[in-house]
Amino acid sequence: MDHPKKIQYSLSLGSNLALIFLFLTGTTVLFLSIWSPSYSLTNFPIFPFRREQLQSCQLPNSTAVEAPQDELESALEKASMENKTVIIAVINKAYADQDMKADTTMLDIFLDSFWLGEDTKKLRDHLLLVAVDQTAYDRCRFLRLNCFRLETDGVDFMGEKLYMSQDFIKMMWRRTLFLLEVLKRGYSFIFTDMDVVWLRNPFEKLSKNETEDFQISTDMFFGDPWSEKHLINTGFYYIRSNNKTIALFDKWYSLRDNSTGQKEQDVLLDLIRGGIIGQLGLKVRFLDTLHFSGFCQDSKDFREVTTVHANCCRSITAKITDLRAVLRDWKRFKKIMSYKRFANVNATETFRWTGHWGCWNSWKAGGNKTKV
Ligand SMILES: *[C@@H]1O[C@H](CO)[C@@H](O)[C@H](O)[C@H]1NC(C)=O
Ligand SMILES: *[C@@H]1O[C@H](CO)[C@@H](O)[C@H](O)[C@H]1NC(C)=O
Ligand SMILES: *[C@@H]1O[C@H](CO)[C@@H](O)[C@H](O)[C@H]1NC(C)=O
Ligand SMILES: *[C@@H]1O[C@H](CO)[C@@H](O)[C@H](O)[C@H]1NC(C)=O
Ligand SMILES: *[C@@H]1O[C@H](CO)[C@@H](O)[C@H](O)[C@H]1NC(C)=O
Ligand SMILES: *[C@@H]1O[C@H](CO)[C@@H](O)[C@H](O)[C@H]1NC(C)=O
Ligand SMILES: *[C@@H]1O[C@H](CO)[C@@H](O)[C@H](O)[C@H]1NC(C)=O
Repeated sequence: MDHPKKIQYSLSLGSNLALIFLFLTGTTVLFLSIWSPSYSLTNFPIFPFRREQLQSCQLPNSTAVEAPQDELESALEKASMENKTVIIAVINKAYADQDMKADTTMLDIFLDSFWLGEDTKKLRDHLLLVAVDQTAYDRCRFLRLNCFRLETDGVDFMGEKLYMSQDFIKMMWRRTLFLLEVLKRGYSFIFTDMDVVWLRNPFEKLSKNETEDFQISTDMFFGDPWSEKHLINTGFYYIRSNNKTIALFDKWYSLRDNSTGQKEQDVLLDLIRGGIIGQLGLKVRFLDTLHFSGFCQDSKDFREVTTVHANCCRSITAKITDLRAVLRDWKRFKKIMSYKRFANVNATETFRWTGHWGCWNSWKAGGNKTKV
């Protein structure tokens, strides 16, 4: 992207004039970096990135005045692969911190999956956790992960959010705005919800064709990866940074105030139904649940499964219970497949997922328990 990350000025000293020039240039750089279009989002009142102060000009001799590199840019740079790709998950206290009654967290299960998965350990280094409250941020730092603190004025994103409550919807839109900013900075990314376990390296199963702008998971896969009829799930997707995808996220986010009572996923779905893919000339692949599965539709094959999302589920407790069962199933599969004499067993016949009883039952409980 075109934002002025590092503008260096080399000035030789000699007169007061130079000093004044230096000061003015520094101010201009700071000013530009705040107000140039590529930073336009940061002007948005609910999106105040903390900016580091311009380092005091070091004199004498060759003086480098650097445009301030903000915390988001350093966080992205640190987590990024060589090809400007990161993995992004958003975390709040409810996913990071143990409840009195719980003995684990969604974050722990998520990270366990990177350890237990095939070829996933190294991906931890490219994971950027976006913390929406202080507790989540502290826990992220404690685990020595790549962390970014997303600050918001006057909104507490700490607790478990009632599904479709005001705060829930606000949090979802906030996330969209943040991801738009990441795209604008030229980073492609996998976005993953934290209630997704990674059993294999998704980059192996995503299409590498650069003409494909957006690859998004589905609740149910109908067989044709190009069919716009799919029920998308924004809990897992891969998106390339380019002007088309930026236009898509821009459009998506612009509808936030015109979509009362709709969550961002439904708004995107409406956009797709309305033909945005053709209008922007996007190429969107709808991902097969054979690889990118969930509780709505299990992967048919343990040998192919890559991610499992606790979708079609209503409470955090139920998700945790059932995702732990998924990891147990996975360990059993790996154990058995490690014996040579079982190398030829038909995995489709032999292995079945444990029922997602926690999640299935979560729908039975009364109306206002609707949580995510
Ligand atoms: C000043 O800059 C010149 C040329 O860049 C360099 O050779 C010299 O060592 C510098 N002096 C100091 C004190 O940094
Ligand atoms: C980016 O690099 C990683 C690691 O080398 C690779 O797995 C991934 O496929 C690359 N992504 C793209 C879009 O080429
Ligand atoms: C990528 O997709 C385009 C359009 O479908 C196709 O023409 C091209 O051959 C593909 N490239 C590769 C490397 O598969
Ligand atoms: C993206 O950029 C290309 C060439 O730079 C241009 O032809 C195209 O219209 C742009 N698309 C959008 C959606 O801005
Ligand atoms: C906003 O909603 C109204 C009423 O549903 C609709 O007429 C209008 O076209 C919408 N505006 C945009 C920008 O989608
Ligand atoms: C494994 O079993 C399933 C279900 O019985 C069958 O459809 C599939 O063809 C079998 N696969 C192999 C490799 O034998
Ligand atoms: C629904 O909410 C009411 C009051 O907010 C509470 O008394 C009741 O126990 C809740 N029911 C369920 C099933 O959570």
